[in-house]
Formats: sequence, structure tokens, C-alpha cells
Amino acid sequence: MSVHLDKAAASRRTILVTGGAGFIGSHLCERLLERGDIVWCLDNNSTGSLDNVGAIMASKRFRLIDRDIIQPLPLHVDEIYNLACPASPAHYQADPIRTTRTCVLGALNVLDLAHRCGARVLQASTSEIYGEPEVHPQRETYWGHVNPIGARACYDEGKRCAESLFFDYHRSRGVAIRIARIFNTYGPRMQADDGRIVSNFIVQALRDRPLTVYGDGRQTRSFCYVRDMVDALIRLMDAPDDLTGPMNLGNPHEVPVIYLADRIIAMTGASASIVFKPLPPDDPSRRRPDIGCARRALGWEPVVSLEEGLAATVDYFRAVLQDKGRATAGHDGGRSDGVCGTIGRADARLERPSALHPVEPRAAGGAGARR
Ligand SMILES: NC(=O)c1ccc[n+]([C@@H]2O[C@H](COP(=O)([O-])OP(=O)(O)OC[C@H]3O[C@@H](n4cnc5c(N)ncnc54)[C@H](O)[C@@H]3O)[C@@H](O)[C@H]2O)c1
Repeated sequence: MSVHLDKAAASRRTILVTGGAGFIGSHLCERLLERGDIVWCLDNNSTGSLDNVGAIMASKRFRLIDRDIIQPLPLHVDEIYNLACPASPAHYQADPIRTTRTCVLGALNVLDLAHRCGARVLQASTSEIYGEPEVHPQRETYWGHVNPIGARACYDEGKRCAESLFFDYHRSRGVAIRIARIFNTYGPRMQADDGRIVSNFIVQALRDRPLTVYGDGRQTRSFCYVRDMVDALIRLMDAPDDLTGPMNLGNPHEVPVIYLADRIIAMTGASASIVFKPLPPDDPSRRRPDIGCARRALGWEPVVSLEEGLAATVDYFRAVLQDKGRATAGHDGGRSDGVCGTIGRADARLERPSALHPVEPRAAGGAGARR
């Protein structure tokens, strides 16, 4: 019996998830742990949160590394999912130079690490590399239509540069790469205040505030539930070696933004109205992935309907706002402007600094257990 256990332990892979304390990354870490892997979550805790990984922190196969991806990574791992990057426009535009550094230096660092270790590496790219698309739906063969000097360029061009670095390391150094072009993904653990459309609408509705629609609401988006996305990322990583991508991952069910607002008002039972504001510059008017490639190569397509996914997300934010209400009740430090804070993120950071482990290379042949 113990021989079997030893064999199972020895065959376990050590998987690095950069940005693992973020929204998608934390769900990915959970799924990899469930499957039996050793998971190292590297995060600088900028837009992610220790709360997101609270439930898995006690696992002996989980290790949290407090580090910025723009620093070299003195680790030894078998696989890398590179998710570290702010994803909401509010966050990535707050410090655009830092965003470009994260995309480009981060890509270089994970690629150097992959090259050194012979590890496979997956890049979380984005539908934003298509910019304001002239082709609809977007296929992987479309080269995109991006404004290279606009306010969103730090993210769009940063991710485009990361894709070209991935292919250069693949062609010139033989690194095994995967590029996932992720389309709008939503679900529990999005931040309430990060300005993304689904979280924005739900939090506004639950607070009985008007829902902010930019433009006339006829622009479209396609929303993929996080469980489907994590499933796709793992399938792409595990696919045969020659499948580099780029591969679109997302839900092809396209809806106008105004439809989403109406559904969320109905589902929350809110009496909220809708206010219209001018569209931000370079906001894409249509977004829908062609996922034919993922269907054929991975046998994957989203299975969670928008109704089902939104219901789970509404439940999550309802609980978060209730907790926050309880936490702020009785002291006057709470915000009175109706803007939701970061849901205990700052508290978590202050209270639990010792939960962050310094980076330390794994001893050769070691299991890399959490300290
Ligand atoms: N959610 C989506 O709809 C979507 C769509 C397209 C692409 N993506 C990509 O998927 C990835 C994850 O997105 P998300 O929605 O979970 O965002 P998120 O902001 O919740 O997660 C990003 C994580 O990366 C960490 N991070 C940021 N900069 C870092 C740095 N320099 N060093 C170390 N850690 C850093 C953050 O603290 C956070 O935990 C991102 O790369 C994003 O570009 C997401």
C-alpha cells in the first residue's frame, strides 16, 4: 500500500500558477489540487486576494509564493500557467507602464523558467488582442485591429508582445507552449469594484443603484462561466505536444450589454434603473469567439448557461456584500458613497503576511511541499 502511495507522490507534477490568487487563477489552483497535483501559486497580491485561496491554503500540496512576475523566477517546476496580469480595464490602466512590464517581462521570465526546466507553459492571452474587430466572430487566424497608442494599448499590445515571445521561444528554443485567447469570463471571486461588466451590474443591482451602461447598450459581449474556462485551460495544457494554439476559449453565446443588464435586474429582484454613459475610447463594439478550433482539438465547449452562471455569481456577491455589511456595521470606517471596497482584501493582506512564503528553489528530485 505504501509503495503505491510513494509512487503516486513521486509521479505528482509541480505546477506553477502565476496570478493564482486572482479570479480565474484561484479556481484553477483548486481544480489542479483536486486532481492531485502540487500547486505553487505565485502572486504579488495586487488585484488578487488571499481570500480567494483561503479554502486551499491548508493543503500540503499548495504553496503560496509572494513574488512579482517581473522578477526572475528561481524555481523548478513541471508546468506553468501564466495568468499574472491585471485583467480589468480599471486595473490595467491605473499603471499602464507596469501593465506592459508585467505582460512582457513576465512572459520572458516564465519562458526562461520553462526553458530551464523543460516545462510546458501556457499563456493566458486575451480576446483584446483582436482590438475593435473587423471580422465577426473572431477566429484565431484574424490578426486583429488594435489601437497601439490608446489607453488600452498597455494591455492589448502587452499581450500581443507576450504571444510573439511565446512563439519565438517555441521556434528558436523548443519550449513547449500553449496560448489561450480568453474571452470575457465571469463568476464568483471577481472583485466587486473592478469595473468589469458582470460584477459591476450585479453589485449595482444588489445595492439598488442604477446600472451603468456605457454607450447605448447594443454593443455585444459573450460571457463564459469560470468553471468552463478552467476546464478548457486544463484541457489545452494537457493536449498533445504540437497543439500550441493560439486557441480561442470563451462562450460563443453573444448578448447585447443591455440584455445582460435587464437579466441581472430581473434575477436580483432589484428595482434599479439603467443610466447610460458615453462609451470609453476603443471599447470594442462586438465580441464573439469562434471556438471551432477548441471544439475539434479539445472536445470542449461551454456547458454552463448564462442563466445558471449568473445565478451562482449573484449568490456569491449577495454573500460578499452581506459579510461586508456585517464587517462595517458599528464602526464608521465604512464607505458611504455606495462604492464597494475590496472585500476584506486589505485586511487579509495585513493580517496574514506570514502566510506568504519566500521563493526557494525546489531541491532536485524533491516533492516541493509547502513549508
Ligand atoms: N477574466 C477575464 O475575462 C479574462 C479575459 C481575457 C484574459 N484574461 C487573462 O486571464 C488572467 C487572469 O485574469 P483574472 O480575470 O483572473 O484577473 P485577476 O486580476 O483577478 O487576476 C490576476 C492575478 O495576477 C496577479 N498579478 C498581477 N500582476 C502581477 C505581477 N506583476 N506579479 C505577480 N502577480 C501579479 C494579481 O494579484 C491577481 O491575483 C490574466 O492574465 C488576464 O489577462 C482574463
